[in-house]
Amino acid sequence: MSDSKATLTLNGESKDYAIMDGTVGPQVIDVRKLYAQTGMFTYDPGFTSTASCDSGLTYIDGDEGVLLHRGYPIGQLAEQSSFMEVSYLLLNGELPSKAELDEFTRTITRHTMVHEQLTTFYRGFRRDAHPMAIMCGVVGALSAFYHDSTDINDPVQRKIASHRLIAKMPTIAAMAYKYSAGQPFVYPRNDLSYTANFLRMTFSVPAEEYVPDPVIVDAMDKIFILHADHEQNASTSTVRLAGSSGANPFACIAAGIACLWGPAHGGANEAALNMLREIGTVDRIPEYIARAKNKDDPFRLMGFGHRVYKNYDPRATVMQKTAEDVLRVMGVTDPIFDVARQLEKIALSDEYFIEKKLFPNVDFYSGVILSAIGFPTEMFTVLFALARTVGWVAQWNEMISDPAQKIGRPRQLYTGPTQRDYVPVDKR
Ligand code: CMC
Repeated sequence: MSDSKATLTLNGESKDYAIMDGTVGPQVIDVRKLYAQTGMFTYDPGFTSTASCDSGLTYIDGDEGVLLHRGYPIGQLAEQSSFMEVSYLLLNGELPSKAELDEFTRTITRHTMVHEQLTTFYRGFRRDAHPMAIMCGVVGALSAFYHDSTDINDPVQRKIASHRLIAKMPTIAAMAYKYSAGQPFVYPRNDLSYTANFLRMTFSVPAEEYVPDPVIVDAMDKIFILHADHEQNASTSTVRLAGSSGANPFACIAAGIACLWGPAHGGANEAALNMLREIGTVDRIPEYIARAKNKDDPFRLMGFGHRVYKNYDPRATVMQKTAEDVLRVMGVTDPIFDVARQLEKIALSDEYFIEKKLFPNVDFYSGVILSAIGFPTEMFTVLFALARTVGWVAQWNEMISDPAQKIGRPRQLYTGPTQRDYVPVDKR
């Protein structure tokens, strides 16, 4: 708590509000007593100026393009760590020792199978169902299968549920893909890494084993690291809000998946690749730049702009380099990658994008990589959900462990009719 105070003067009367300090980043004004003292609420749709919790997981400085997990820069984690290690870090606060990492990896590996009866859920969906629709349903259904890890007041059950979610998500995601492709489900294999196992469950068929190139496994692992957590974004806030009522973890993560699906959030990677394909050739870029700048046209450059980053998204830097590596290994010369690079160049030198501080975000290049690896666009947001699950459960755990935690209950500025008398239907 800082010594300084914020003073609010209303109708000639002044009230002081405490100013709170984090370890780094903007201070916050503690307005919890505002309504009791003044009878007024604050108004902040979209939470652009509101801290909804305190958290020790992830720090973002959007102006400088900084992203830290438990203090470690995302660039260092993506280059030197692994998704399993980053998961441990997010859940436990510190990097693991070798023994701790081995034990954690073993635990996750041992939880990768799903209840056999869960496969019948898939068969209830149409073959052309969007895999995110399947993910929302199947992940929500996990609470009907794993009753022994739904008591949120028991830290051991919370830990088991967290491990189950992280472990089963690749299996569930790969099954969603297999179902839409009309191919048999592939069971997990415990001798493979988390990421290699996921790729095999997705691309292997009984007639032919899939042996991924280590560069592809490494690229996929990096993509998972880059998506692991991102502070209080819309889906994470959804998970926290759902969890604040005491709902079980599987239901909360299903809520997060539903929120992530939207094109302004996790759905942007799919939308970005579709946009790049629609542009198709470099000579058509100016037309799309002009559309993005036109106030009367709802078109936006997908994969551009961010609520928090007003600088280059540090995840996009790693993503661009990874795209180059993957395309080289796959021997793919994707004209869409050229369109992406050229579009970025043109946009970054355009006054509109400079003035509004619109830079490529994590989704701008990820679609190019995922498409080169062989994923259909509908799977892109599923991969985001898979990776973000660790962030969601870590944030959820942090919230439940906080003794000051309350049910989330925003207020509103009411603009509807004032009280009026009911009129029977024959008199209207
Ligand atoms: N193309 C063209 N103009 C844009 C864009 C864009 N991609 N993004 C923002 N703007 C303009 C917008 O029209 C507005 O202009 P004005 O001030 O004249 O009205 C200004 O920039 C500010 O935009 P905003 O919508 O008020 O900003 P926001 O913080 O509410 O939105 C955003 C952030 C990510 C939703 C938005 O930039 C966007 O729609 N981007 C495209 C979708 C996208 O790539 N989303 C992925 C986000 S990163 C992954 C994730 O976190 O899920």
